[in-house]
Amino acid sequence: MYRIRQPLFYIIILIAFAACDNNNKLNELPSVAANLPDSVLEGKKTFEASCVRCHGMDASGLTGPSLKRPKLKHVSDIASFINVVEFGIAGTGMPSNWAITDTDCHQLYAYINYLKNQGKETPKGDSAAGRKVYASAGCASCHIMNGEGNSIGPELSEIGASRNAAYLKQAIIDPAATLPESTDIDNGYGFSLYLPIKIITNDGTAITGLRINEDTYSIQLKDAANNYYSFNKDELKSVEKQYGQSLMPSFKTKLSDKEIENLVAFLYKSGNQ
Ligand code: HEC
Ligand code: HEC
Repeated sequence: MYRIRQPLFYIIILIAFAACDNNNKLNELPSVAANLPDSVLEGKKTFEASCVRCHGMDASGLTGPSLKRPKLKHVSDIASFINVVEFGIAGTGMPSNWAITDTDCHQLYAYINYLKNQGKETPKGDSAAGRKVYASAGCASCHIMNGEGNSIGPELSEIGASRNAAYLKQAIIDPAATLPESTDIDNGYGFSLYLPIKIITNDGTAITGLRINEDTYSIQLKDAANNYYSFNKDELKSVEKQYGQSLMPSFKTKLSDKEIENLVAFLYKSGNQ
């Protein structure tokens, strides 16, 4: 039995690595018991080929939400699950999957429920201590959490529902590595609303910020200090998209490892009670 399963296991690993390309440093392979039902194993294969790049290796969320939350927004049973997976969710980053059959969906559903029953990941840190780090590190100058703060970065009130602990840690120590992708059809799937734009005016002033709006003749930006700018394009020497950068500073050296661990526990708990 063990010998027969072994090649299959390596094939699954190969598929997994091929499917998760640049995200694989954020996730470790979930360990799989040898005696799982075939539906779960088949579901795992489909999940790793088609879903991990957005929902994360263990379904706990990357650019798409965690599918291990106790209650999903669009899914209450297998019928609504099939609907979401095959047809996608209009106006969001959840694509339709025409190649996925009802049978595949039943297997995916079995696999996701298996992962859910594996128990929730509990980050090691102390979330009460993390709340204090959040306040003292000035996160609220750029993020809204439970109605308080500035909206330069994404709202964090329910961040724990859609991001796993590894992602949250990376967002804090290496922000540019994890620019959240747009799930908005108007802005284009996969394009980050948070990509910094650097403009240089005709008189040589440089301003870096996030693009709020742009049309043929003008562009509006907001910088990290929450200042708004509006320019006619004929006032500008250049407009440059700063790939590989973020407006969020790295906190790698500003916080201790322990503080980062606690902060991750605090963020993870938000929306993930
Ligand atoms: C290109 C990225 C992407 C891929 C690939 C993707 N999803 Fe999604 N998915 C999303 C996003 C983004 C959402 C959140 C939509 C929203 O509500 O705004 C989502 C939502 C969902 C939901 C609904 C969650 C809820 O709260 O109701 C389910 C279920 C789901 N996806 C399953 C899957 C499965 C299964 C696959 C693989 C067959 C898959 N997704 C592939 C991005 C993706
Ligand atoms: C100067 C503004 C600024 C400050 C200060 C700041 N952030 Fe951010 N943050 C951003 C921006 C902009 C983004 C989106 C781009 C990115 O992910 O790098 C972001 C992204 C994030 C994300 C990822 C969100 C997602 O949906 O992927 C997390 C988590 C986060 N910040 C947490 C924090 C925490 C915790 C602090 C305080 C220690 C903090 N930020 C301080 C601007 C800021």
